[in-house]
Amino acid sequence: MRRKGRIDEPTEAAIARAAEALRAGALVAFPTETVYGLGADAGSDKAVAALYAAKDRPRFNPLIAHVADLPAARAVADFDTRAEALAHAFWPGPLTLVLPARRDGGVCLLARAGLDTVAVRAPAHPVARALLAEVGGPIAAPSANHSGDVSPTEASHVADAFGDEVEMILDGGPCAVGLESTIIDLSAPKPVLLRPGGLPRVALEEVIGSLHSLADGFITCLSTDRPTAPGQLARHYAPRLPVRLEAQEVEPGEALLAFGKDVPRGAAETLNLSEQGDLVEAATRLFAYLRRLDRTAARGIAVMPIPGDGLGEAINDRLRRAATPHEGTS
Ligand code: TXA
Ligand code: MG
Repeated sequence: MRRKGRIDEPTEAAIARAAEALRAGALVAFPTETVYGLGADAGSDKAVAALYAAKDRPRFNPLIAHVADLPAARAVADFDTRAEALAHAFWPGPLTLVLPARRDGGVCLLARAGLDTVAVRAPAHPVARALLAEVGGPIAAPSANHSGDVSPTEASHVADAFGDEVEMILDGGPCAVGLESTIIDLSAPKPVLLRPGGLPRVALEEVIGSLHSLADGFITCLSTDRPTAPGQLARHYAPRLPVRLEAQEVEPGEALLAFGKDVPRGAAETLNLSEQGDLVEAATRLFAYLRRLDRTAARGIAVMPIPGDGLGEAINDRLRRAATPHEGTS
């Protein structure tokens, strides 16, 4: 007999069983090209409630509705010309669009945290696509980690965190992108970058022009009890050990998350995100390496400076969150 929480090879039969489990209200973890997602039937308040409970997630943090393709997304949200252009250019892929939710769009209010907008994304991973095609409706899926922890980029990370709490974990290998999707809010006249992610800002700006960032102070209506993106949850992607950024050298007892060729000596343990200084390679390794260093006996993790261009914007965003002190934050 199959044990609950077992990691499954993504055979056709396993994908059919996963789709069946989702339709019955169970939780299924599945690979996407960004990170692993913890999926629930997006139309079911009951399934989504179980998902929030499993994640220990603040209820007000809404979920992404994953869909098979653009026609499926149009059933969920209202697409304007900017949304159409971005979807054509980048889907399936690591881009999430926040749009006005359609009435009867199949995403329950709990998944949207009561908002009249919905976040929607068509992932590129073949296993995610096969699962979505089999389910036929949207799957609500946050990253498959407990709220505040580092996102999973391998099936074993999900098994470590959730074990028997999930019905199945479909194994799609290590995630090719390794960072969560880029989120853009298109529900207002000016497009806003809510979360830098696996698709670099410049790629988006080539299609729809310049983006406002939360950091620009463009959004003035944000309140702490209703975050619009993980950016408002200060401590996110957080390891157990303290994280020190922009490290030029290693202090006694520290482990080192290195980048590039000129690596300071003396670390208790060193993992290099990319000796070649390649930001794409660094992105795929970031979360797995943070986990590995966090399990060492070091007293902290020093992180070398990482350039901010391309995927560097998202990498630095995640590292800043990882470095936020534990006290007084969520
Ligand atoms: O790459 C990804 O995006 C992964 C994979 C599994 O697809 N998912 C992911 O989900 O990172 P999650 O739940 O960890 O982060 C999605 C974020 C939420 O934290 C929420 O702040 C934002 O998307 N979001 C969802 N719906 C929104 C909405 N209607 N308006 C603004 N932000 C929204
Ligand atoms: Mg997450």
